[in-house]
Amino acid sequence: MDWITQGLLALGSVLLAEVVRDSYHVLAHVWGPLTRIHAIHHKVYNTNLEVLSTELYRKAHWYGDVPEATVLVMFSLAFVFLTQAPGAWLGVAYSTSFWLSGLARANDLLKNTDLNHKSGPLTTPPSPWLVNRTYHWRHHFDDGNAYYSGVFSLVDRVMGTSISLKGKTIAITGASGALGQALMQELLKRKAKVIALTSSDWIAPEGILVKRWSIGEEQALAELFKGVDILVCNHGLNPHAACEWKDIEAAYAVNTFSVLKLMELFLDTVTTSRAYATKEIWINTSEAEVSPAFSPLYELSKRSLGELVTLKRIHAPCVIRKIILGPFKSKLNPLGVMSPAWVAKMVVNLARRDIRNIVVTINTLTYILFPLKECAAYWYYRLLTKPQASRVGDAALTPNSSPAQQERGEEPS
Ligand SMILES: NC(=O)c1ccc[n+]([C@@H]2O[C@H](COP(=O)([O-])OP(=O)(O)OC[C@H]3O[C@@H](n4cnc5c(N)ncnc54)[C@H](OP(=O)(O)O)[C@@H]3O)[C@@H](O)[C@H]2O)c1
Repeated sequence: MDWITQGLLALGSVLLAEVVRDSYHVLAHVWGPLTRIHAIHHKVYNTNLEVLSTELYRKAHWYGDVPEATVLVMFSLAFVFLTQAPGAWLGVAYSTSFWLSGLARANDLLKNTDLNHKSGPLTTPPSPWLVNRTYHWRHHFDDGNAYYSGVFSLVDRVMGTSISLKGKTIAITGASGALGQALMQELLKRKAKVIALTSSDWIAPEGILVKRWSIGEEQALAELFKGVDILVCNHGLNPHAACEWKDIEAAYAVNTFSVLKLMELFLDTVTTSRAYATKEIWINTSEAEVSPAFSPLYELSKRSLGELVTLKRIHAPCVIRKIILGPFKSKLNPLGVMSPAWVAKMVVNLARRDIRNIVVTINTLTYILFPLKECAAYWYYRLLTKPQASRVGDAALTPNSSPAQQERGEEPS
């Protein structure tokens, strides 16, 4: 076998070990005998990931981590046996290192060296491909039946457990519109609590809380946003052929600046460990970012929004997803071909797989042009911008914000 094949088998052996580890973890949440043992691990930490009991910590490693690593070693050896490739021994070495570190921790050595359980407040959002502390924190304190992955987020992405919507408070603008209503139904199916933000006198169906707002009065939502986990900015206006000054003003006010203002207000509420881990913003920009929508002012205002979201989310304290949609039927686009219900279903399914740029369209060009444009813009803005020193009240870094306050999502006293 050549070096490239050996290298690929070596990487494959590591990936296999991680898939086995995550599958074992899933099993530990569904199969009684393992569940009882794994429950010990979940009792070890407080929300600051500090060890509550050394006794439980050691027990969790003896009965949880060491057997888990033994299974990894066995699968890695089976892979070597099947492939007969020297490169596959990397997986054995990788798995054995976890077996040894599990043994060491069970004997009170290597304390606070496990990257996913290092103690201290969270200060970054969950990372997309490699599991970081914030990502794993959610498995302990947001929803134990999601966020199973330990190193690569692959298994969660396949299972749709990258985000749990259960019990999340989700506020959505443009609620009375075609997509707004469909999205709310889809989120309710996932057991989220939905708040409809509407600028009209629309009456919401049962089970949905309504809050009225209007363009220019975004500040009035600041207090509400403190208790919101996910903000979906979905309102939008299509000026079609209009191009007078008043139309330009209206298109940018609704499609661009009100969204950016809501985003800023929401980002100011990301001040606790829980907020870093669970708060998100989803912004419905449109495929007009890269493809024609046959409405110049709509395209211009949505493109400006898209670019500014790309710029702002580089250093944002929480996850910001873009929703890039093709034509679906609504008041805004009566000629749309997709159904809002299907689009909403796809959006939620892709968000649950942690897709940060959710593209749903019938236009194949968008699938090619959008990633190219987004990648180029991201690197250009990244190279030419600096992270803000601190946002309004970075409580996770503020000494007088206690872990208990952070757990409850409270402001520092
Ligand atoms: N339809 C498409 O083909 C398509 C394609 C790509 C992207 N999109 C985007 O998808 C989102 C939803 O649109 P939709 O197709 O579902 O259209 P829609 O049925 O017309 O809904 C749009 C909603 O936006 C809100 N809105 C409109 N003008 C507003 C204003 N001046 N101030 C505050 N809110 C206002 C209204 O909701 P409230 O009355 O509840 O506030 C309205 O119902 C929009 O952002 C749109 O740009 C649509």
